[in-house]
Amino acid sequence: MKSNLTQISLIGLSYSGKSTLGQVVADRLGWKFNDTDVMYAKKFGKSPARAIKEDGELVFRDNESIVLAEALAEDWSVIATGGGTFERSTNRRALGNTSLIVYLDIPVDILYKRYLNDQESEIRPLLETQEGVLHTLRELNRERRPHYQLADLWLSSIALEDIEQTEAMNQTATRLLDYWVQEGFRTEASEQRLTRLETEVAPSHPAALVRTADSVYPVWVGVNQIERLPDRLIQLNLTNRKLFIIADESVMEPHGTLLAGKLQAAQVSGATYLIPSGESSKSSAMIEEIYSWLATHKAERTSVIVALGGGVVCDIAGYIAATYLRGLAIIMVPTSVLGMNDASIGGKTGIDLPIGKNLVGAFKQPRAVIADINTLRTLPKRSYIEGFAEIIKHGLILDSELLEWLETYRVELTSELPASALLQQITTRSIYLKSLVVSTDPLEQGIRMILNYGHTIGHAIETVTEYQQWMHGEAISVGMTAAGRIARELGIMELNLFERQTDLLRDFGLPISAPGLNPDAIIEAMSRDKKVVDSKARFVFVTEVGQAVVHADVPDSLIRDAVQRVTR
Ligand SMILES: NC(=O)c1ccc[n+]([C@@H]2O[C@H](COP(=O)([O-])OP(=O)(O)OC[C@H]3O[C@@H](n4cnc5c(N)ncnc54)[C@H](O)[C@@H]3O)[C@@H](O)[C@H]2O)c1
Ligand SMILES: [Zn+2]
Repeated sequence: MKSNLTQISLIGLSYSGKSTLGQVVADRLGWKFNDTDVMYAKKFGKSPARAIKEDGELVFRDNESIVLAEALAEDWSVIATGGGTFERSTNRRALGNTSLIVYLDIPVDILYKRYLNDQESEIRPLLETQEGVLHTLRELNRERRPHYQLADLWLSSIALEDIEQTEAMNQTATRLLDYWVQEGFRTEASEQRLTRLETEVAPSHPAALVRTADSVYPVWVGVNQIERLPDRLIQLNLTNRKLFIIADESVMEPHGTLLAGKLQAAQVSGATYLIPSGESSKSSAMIEEIYSWLATHKAERTSVIVALGGGVVCDIAGYIAATYLRGLAIIMVPTSVLGMNDASIGGKTGIDLPIGKNLVGAFKQPRAVIADINTLRTLPKRSYIEGFAEIIKHGLILDSELLEWLETYRVELTSELPASALLQQITTRSIYLKSLVVSTDPLEQGIRMILNYGHTIGHAIETVTEYQQWMHGEAISVGMTAAGRIARELGIMELNLFERQTDLLRDFGLPISAPGLNPDAIIEAMSRDKKVVDSKARFVFVTEVGQAVVHADVPDSLIRDAVQRVTR
């Protein structure tokens, strides 16, 4: 049966804000709002919490399905579902049959903070375990996320620090409603969609989906992902296209050859352009050469660019894809830690000018990101380590669990042969976090700014050393240390957190100081940075793990002190 949908259902863990958002969306549409937990209490005379305690989870789940069916009988309504409702395949199918399914994807640390702030509500028995609520939320997230990911729309609203924060809530509601009027209402209850919802999740599910104003794209993370590129082209509806691979010369063997071979075997036609390794390739001269190459090889509007390499290639190929013939599709295949965790995700592309780095660029979201863990095996050690600065940053600003993993596995991760499964686990989580931020704020108008932790001073270090001595991650490692010192002086970062950060950076072999650099030159370079607004440098600080804040009015003396200390 095919029909258009008459409801919007919200799914996600406890404290993801389903009830609050549901009410806002319903009000704005003039629809009815149903909260299945409230309906449950009305029908069975006890709250879901009490029902689970008294009757056991199984009885509760059966009754919950009955309540869900009643909610789904009501056209033109918004439904907030219980956190576990979506675990039952029959419920998933029932929801998909009449409603657009929207997943509120919120990092666990934020859910936990909301739990701590939520004094009034009844204890939710599934959360109150011996290991503690945070642990249980993490476990539930791990268990349920694969199913939640089946939703028609993922909404991340990491800015929702406090569930009542109305502005953030209204923004999220607007994004949902925009989606609904543009395409959501047209979603069909096709058998194909319902079967997909019903099926237990396939292991090849993407690690993340990035949703921006006009696109949504998957990020696949795993071993041997390059070999699957021909399959992915089919999944992405990009068959019968000419592929133009832009690759770093250092990754051609063995990764580029493998990729080209797989494409050839699948009879996909393509050509490859090799660019010399290193930042100096991010020049307008290089861009012109690649334009000419594309023209000579008759690239068309339907052609697809494939970027194969580290952050440098992501930036160059991304810029080409943004501009050539006013835009071509691009698939990112990042091969460095930094490329995977940062440069390939989020759509920022750019090249350098002699007068400064990344001064010319464009936003261009890829059609997909394919992160093949195998490629990291050939990455030079220094580049490998450098990339971890961004992963550590993601842990610090967003996710205590990622930070704990990094602390637990620091020896293994920095050894000669870290296990692929471990690298995959860490990379998947880190990429997921970046995707959440980008999906919340695609154009860097708000929350995305927190990704600049360590970058205010870090970029200045790169600038004064003319991008020669310092790798990006190394510079931001020093930048995070300096930001930490300022935060200590401002009294917003505890000593033990600062020490945790310092220890972790040091254990990964990342620098925490830049002795010998000229502090005045660094401060001067900061004033010319893109992050400067009204001649005030903006700083990101971490006040506790998973909690970042932006300050625009840091006293110059504190900045100077911190820069002096890290350059000593
Ligand atoms: N667009 C963004 O959002 C964004 C974000 C962060 C960084 N960047 C940019 O990314 C660049 C830095 O990225 P990077 O650190 O990946 O640098 P990179 O691309 O220069 O790669 C580092 C080195 O490793 C080599 N390499 C890469 N992958 C390899 C592999 N699998 N095997 C062997 N060698 C390999 C490269 O040839 C290079 O020598 C900078 O230009 C920075 O501006 C962009
Ligand atoms: Zn960075």
